[in-house]
Amino acid sequence: QVPQHFPASDVVFLDAGNGTSALIHLHGATVLSWKVNGKEMLFVSEKSVFDGKKAIRGGIPIVFPQFGPWASGPQHGFCRIKRWNSEIPPTKDSKGTVIAMLSLQDDEETRQMWNYKFKVVYSLRLQENAFIMNLTIHNEGMCISFFGFSTLLHSYIRTPDILNTSVHGLNGVKYVDKVNNNRTDVEKRENIFMDENYDRVYIACPTHVDVSHIGCGQHNLNIKTFNLPDIVLWNPWTEKAKAMSDFGDEEYKNMICVEGGKVNKPVTLEAGKQFECSQTFTVSPAY
Ligand code: BG6
Repeated sequence: QVPQHFPASDVVFLDAGNGTSALIHLHGATVLSWKVNGKEMLFVSEKSVFDGKKAIRGGIPIVFPQFGPWASGPQHGFCRIKRWNSEIPPTKDSKGTVIAMLSLQDDEETRQMWNYKFKVVYSLRLQENAFIMNLTIHNEGMCISFFGFSTLLHSYIRTPDILNTSVHGLNGVKYVDKVNNNRTDVEKRENIFMDENYDRVYIACPTHVDVSHIGCGQHNLNIKTFNLPDIVLWNPWTEKAKAMSDFGDEEYKNMICVEGGKVNKPVTLEAGKQFECSQTFTVSPAY
């Protein structure tokens, strides 16, 4: 049942029946596909590189322990370019939820960039029309110490027409505009449409936002977050799309990144403690 083009050892496939499924690549624990009744909701670039090194361009890569550029390591941290472990084979519980659990621990390579002992556990729960992604970050340090980090679920949502897809729920929220010298402003629109290069970090957002006309245009997406108070809205638009080697020149029309994160104020986590955060995607018909 695993899509033919990926070796079964590289992916975890969740099948909830009736064409509802999720596919996760162990490279970066990147969710590649989430289908509801056979309809794909996520975007992956046709030019994405699957070489086990580069971050996958699309789906839901995990940003940790750094959002954005970083003196110690690659942009957006190393989680999205490490191979994760599958902790348990996908299982179905008595309510029909299909569950996967992946993990990543520090190793020689991560300690060279970021010298801390950690474990990240990623649990994914697939239901009929919902998909719950839960991250738990453990500080596995032994002595009295702490580390700081930012994290984010870099979700690439599929749309047939970016000009007809909008984000609802951020009216009145302060944002930092990364394409305009980090200018800050307050969002004044009920429905946010994108029609240019967009890279904004919305700070301290409500726990629910909606994205309209996703997938093949017939669904709306509700995103519910827990401990992910910031939301990044990103679309590279024309020029930046052309400058990205792993992204098609015209593909900006078919994706919108709505990224739940904890990025504005990093988390400080003491040794022996854990931090949990999650996002829940739920789809409903669009009218
Ligand atoms: C977004 C950032 O989260 O990710 C953007 O806000 C960035 O600044 C984008 O361009 C894509 O990043 P990358 O490293 O995957 O090309």
